[in-house]
Amino acid sequence: MTDEHKTATLTVDGKSYELPIFSPTAGPDVIDIRKLYAQAGVFTYDPGFTSTASCDSTITYIDGDAGILLHRGYPIDQLAGKSHYLEVCYLLMYGELPSATELEDFEARITNHTMIHEQMNYLFRGFRRDAAPMAVMVGVVGAMSAFYPDSTDVSDPWQREVASIRMIAKMPTIAAMAYKYTIGQPFVYPRNDLDYASNFLSMCFAVPAEDYQVNPILSRAMDRIFTLHADHEQNASTSTVRLASSSGANPFACIAAGIACLWGPAHGGANQACLEMLKEIGTPDRIPEFIARAKDKNDPFRLMGFGHRVYKNTDPRAKVLKESADEVLDLLGIEDNPTLQVARELEKAALADPYFIEKKLFPNVDFYSGIILEAMGFPTSMFTPIFALARTVGWVSQWKEMIGDPQNKIGRPRQLYQGDTQRDYVDVEDR
Ligand code: SDX
Repeated sequence: MTDEHKTATLTVDGKSYELPIFSPTAGPDVIDIRKLYAQAGVFTYDPGFTSTASCDSTITYIDGDAGILLHRGYPIDQLAGKSHYLEVCYLLMYGELPSATELEDFEARITNHTMIHEQMNYLFRGFRRDAAPMAVMVGVVGAMSAFYPDSTDVSDPWQREVASIRMIAKMPTIAAMAYKYTIGQPFVYPRNDLDYASNFLSMCFAVPAEDYQVNPILSRAMDRIFTLHADHEQNASTSTVRLASSSGANPFACIAAGIACLWGPAHGGANQACLEMLKEIGTPDRIPEFIARAKDKNDPFRLMGFGHRVYKNTDPRAKVLKESADEVLDLLGIEDNPTLQVARELEKAALADPYFIEKKLFPNVDFYSGIILEAMGFPTSMFTPIFALARTVGWVSQWKEMIGDPQNKIGRPRQLYQGDTQRDYVDVEDR
C-alpha cells in the first residue's frame, strides 16, 4: 500500500470523519473503514461485496473493464501460450517464475505426492455409484486431515508448505478416482513417468485391460485448461477458503469448503450448466427463444457462461478457450460440432443484443470450456471437478498468503438487522 496520506471525509449526523485512502499498485484506491464503527458507530453495507476489498494480495490482478488477468504480473494469455500448469503453480505459490532447477525440483515434489493414503480408497465406497463426483470430492478432501495429521498445524510454515504440495499433487488423483468410482471402473494409480496433465488423463481414461497412450493434443489442452482456471483474485470460492481459514481451521477442511462453494451454477458449476444449456438449445434457430428468456425479468433463466462480477469486457480466459476449442476439435477430427456451432451463434447474437451490451455481459471462462472437455471424453459431471482441481493452487496460494500475514484475524462481518426488537416470551396457553 502506498500514499497513505490521502483521506476521504465521511459525515454522519453532522460529524465528519477522516478515513485513510490507500492506493494499490494497480486498480482502484481503497478507503480504510476498519475504525469506522468504533469512531462513528455505523457499519458499511455491501451484500455480495460489490464494492468491498476483503484483503490485500499480491497474487492475481483483474482489470474487468480492460479484460486483463495477471498472475504475479504476467498476463494469462502469455502464461497459457508459453508456460505450463505446474510452472504457473510455482509462480502463484512463490511469486516468481522458477529457474530450470527450481522447476525440476518443484515438479518432482508434486510427482512424489500424487498417491493418496491407501485407506482413503474405502471412503469412495461409502458413496452411491451415481453420486456426483463433486460430492465425492468435497467429502474426500474434507477427510484428508484425518489421513495427513502431520500437515494440519497452520502455525507451522513447514506444515503449511507440505499441505500445499499435497493438495496440488493429490487433487487430480482424487478427482480421477471420483470419476472412476461413478463409472464402475477400477481406480488407476498415478504414474511418476507422466507429466501432471497426462497423469490426470491416464488416471481417468486408462483401464487395466490394455495399455493407455496419452494423446499429446489432449494433454496440452488439459494443461492449458488447468492454467486458465488456476486463480482468480477474491472470487466466491477463494473468499470462502479465506474465511474458513481465518478461524485457524486445518487446510484440508478449508479447501473442501472452497470446493463446496465452487459447486454452485453461478460459479464453478456454470461450465456444466452452460454445456447443458447449449445442448438444450440444440440448434441455432432456437437461440432467440433463449435470449428472450435470459432477458425476461420474470424468468430466472440466465445464459450460463455469460456475465461476470468483475469482467465488463470479454474474459481473457474465454478468448483463449474459444481458440482452443477450435484447435482441439479440429485436431481430434471432430467436424461441425453442433454444440460449438450453437455456442458461436449464441455469442454472436448475445453480443449484438442491446440488453447484453448495456449490461456488459460477455462470455466468461465457463462458456467454451465444456465444449473442449466434452470433446476430450469427459462427462458434464466432471467439468466442475476439473475446475476445482485446477483452482486448488489458487486457493492454496491465497490461503498461504493470508495465514502468513501477521495482521490476519478471524473474519466476522456484521449485518443490517431487520428483525423484531426485544419482546418477552409468551407461554403457549397465552398465545
Ligand atoms: C465464474 O468471481 C469470479 O472470478 C468467478 C470465476 C472464477 O474464475 O473464479 O470467474 C468463475 O464463476 C464465472 C461466472 C460463471 N457463472 C455463470 O456463467 C452463470 C451466469 N452468470 C450470472 O449468474 C452472473 O453473470 C454472475 C453470477 C456471473 C455475476 O453476477 P453479478 O455480478 O451478481 O451480476 P448480477 O447478477 O447483478 O447481474 C447484473 C445484471 C442483472 O440484471 P438487472 O437486475 O441489473 O436488471 O445482469 C443480468 C442480471 O439479471 N445478468 C444476466 C446474466 N448475468 C447477469 N442476464 C442474463 N444472463 C446472464 N448470464
